[in-house]
Amino acid sequence: MSDWWNSAVIYEVYPRSFSDADGDGIGDLRGIIERMPYLESLGIDGIWLTPFQRSPQVDQGYDISDYCDVDPLFGSLADFDELLAAAHSHGIRVLVDIVPNHTSIENPLFEAAVAAAPGSIERDMFHFSEGRGLNSESPPNNWVSVFGGPAWHRVFPESTVDTQWYLHLFSPGQPDWNWENPAVAAYFEAVIRFWFDRGVDGIRVDVAHGLYKAAGMPDSPTVPAVIDGLRSNPLAMDQEPVHEVYRSWRRIAEEYSPARLLVGEVNLEPERSARYTRADELHQTFAFAFAKLGWDGKQWSAVGQQLEAVRRTVGSAPSWALENHDIVRTVTRFGGGALGQQRARAAVVALLGLPGTVYIYQGQELGLPEVDVPVARRADPMWFNGGVSRDGARVPLPWDAASAGSHGFSPVPGAEPWLPVPPAWGDFSIERQELDETSALALFRQASALRAQFEVSSSSSASLALDWSIDGNGRVIARRSDGLRVVIAMGESAVELPAGAVVLSSEALVDGKLPANAAAWVAAE
Ligand code: GLC
Repeated sequence: MSDWWNSAVIYEVYPRSFSDADGDGIGDLRGIIERMPYLESLGIDGIWLTPFQRSPQVDQGYDISDYCDVDPLFGSLADFDELLAAAHSHGIRVLVDIVPNHTSIENPLFEAAVAAAPGSIERDMFHFSEGRGLNSESPPNNWVSVFGGPAWHRVFPESTVDTQWYLHLFSPGQPDWNWENPAVAAYFEAVIRFWFDRGVDGIRVDVAHGLYKAAGMPDSPTVPAVIDGLRSNPLAMDQEPVHEVYRSWRRIAEEYSPARLLVGEVNLEPERSARYTRADELHQTFAFAFAKLGWDGKQWSAVGQQLEAVRRTVGSAPSWALENHDIVRTVTRFGGGALGQQRARAAVVALLGLPGTVYIYQGQELGLPEVDVPVARRADPMWFNGGVSRDGARVPLPWDAASAGSHGFSPVPGAEPWLPVPPAWGDFSIERQELDETSALALFRQASALRAQFEVSSSSSASLALDWSIDGNGRVIARRSDGLRVVIAMGESAVELPAGAVVLSSEALVDGKLPANAAAWVAAE
């Protein structure tokens, strides 16, 4: 197999916060088209666009009301086609986000279900159920929404005739589909074909381990105190029939030439997650165990080893990520301030030295920290119901250093971005970093360009072994079977480098040693 993605760098574009061409304070597809030269300059192979489909934006687009159209907030289908053509002409592949676990209350199929009677075929597309108590006054079970509060909502709270509830594992604006109904599978096959036919190169599958619920939806044995995705409720995730869905999607992906990529958001332990990447299912999942790590050498090495072991059991290629739009930015997670910056740079160098696919989140290449968004400006539904805000990782990108306000995110002076860009972010701006050869951006570009030289051929990357180790000084080494070693100094002192040629390092070596909080690539001699 010579699949392009096996050694690709894929950059997650969060359209709301990438670039705002029309000046309404919210990023859009035209903004992405205009910034295509920047994307190309990063040396990436593809972009993954988080949802831009039609949506009332209750969950920033993860509540999709029409899977086959573009929300006017972001542009039109014609803009999307132009974006796709522009990306391809710049050598960049495009992945779109598909959300099959739930939809939006504004999806016409859900509106029809609400309008139809209990027990109707319309309602059978979703999980409608009578509640508990004489008058159905309590939810059908004890499941809790990932965003906080019960996972059930009464359709007509005042009615004594229609007393049904519907299931929503996320916000009440996001009703779950009933995957037991074959019409749901047929609907989604049409959706993925729609995008594949348009020429997209792959899809990212949202909450891919969701979809099916345990038969009869009994009470969950655990009612979580903290919100941790579906992990808190084993009955709402990782049910066996879901694998059949990905087998059929894989067959569809392979009908196309070149085959389309399927990458899943499977937020499970590595052993369970690996089962989604068996040879006839998804090509990849994001390595969540890795994506959530702090700056901790023992954990990096242990999780790295674990991921390597499980991927070999299914024969899939590795894939790596440390940031996305739901997770606290690495700069902040790794300690914040100058130290966090230094470690985040090291992490980028480390990641780009690993074999397999690397996912980078927009702004990671700039070393952006998490922002403490003022409470009054927070927009994340998880904040309102669950007290956790993901807004701090979603702040618009700073493009220029000169202008205050949006720092060039919106072209219109004075336009108010949907989340405020901190005044000091001119220092992080692309304009400023492009002029500074020691910037995070310069290092990212250098690493992605060098990576091309050390790319394992696609055909061998699935079999390319990786061995992680750590010594008493916190020196982590990820040794590739082709000889390249990624060394990360995760302890308190500088570390010796193994013998070989130093190809790249995130900090200058001192007396031949790699300083603490730095990473380097060392090639075999
Ligand atoms: C995924 C998305 C997240 C969204 C959730 C519900 O976890 O990454 O942003 O809120 O699914 O769709």
